Amino acid sequence: MKLRHVKTGVILGSLVALALASSATGQSTTKIWSGDPVADRQRLMKLNGASWADAQAKLKSGNVEAVAVNAETMTLIATQIVALFPEGSLTDKSKAKPEIWQKWPEFEAAVKNYGAQAEKLRDAARSKDQTATEAVAKEFGRQACGTCHTPFRVPPPQQQPPAPPQQPR
Ligand code: HEC
Repeated sequence: MKLRHVKTGVILGSLVALALASSATGQSTTKIWSGDPVADRQRLMKLNGASWADAQAKLKSGNVEAVAVNAETMTLIATQIVALFPEGSLTDKSKAKPEIWQKWPEFEAAVKNYGAQAEKLRDAARSKDQTATEAVAKEFGRQACGTCHTPFRVPPPQQQPPAPPQQPR
């Protein structure tokens, strides 16, 4: 894995790489995941929010190529989502909607779409094409995050959909 000199990106990227490595061994992922799927997916989504906020800040300052590491993080995050939504994991701490399990194929499609959008953002950033990267980024919040949040997540009280630049902690 090629790490760039972007502190947050390196840390976030390593976290995901670690998560992937532990699931790739076929052994329990409890070293990364706590075993509480609600806490684990909220933790993963926080990383999603941080990655997207970081990508937007870099784009704003014209640091196009550096967005690739955030988009790669989000691409890997996409591979971890489905496993953190086991049937019956809806608790009062969760903002997930029951529709996830009622319309499971649509939820899976939203995950797949998210992964594809993140790859698109990554490839545009890697090409250092500012116009192309900005075009993907412009639609990303709505197309990648909103496509899933709108049908499948209870909106937080003070959040303006879709995914604002500054995610709540
Ligand atoms: C495939 C569906 C899906 C996609 C794609 C998705 N999310 Fe989420 N997200 C959820 C669900 C469901 C929850 C609620 C999880 C829960 O509380 O159990 C959530 C919760 C969150 C949270 C709150 C985490 C917390 O602290 O409780 C943030 C922040 C977040 N998402 C950011 C993002 C961003 C940014 C993107 C796009 C880059 C994104 N999400 C893409 C489904 C998705």
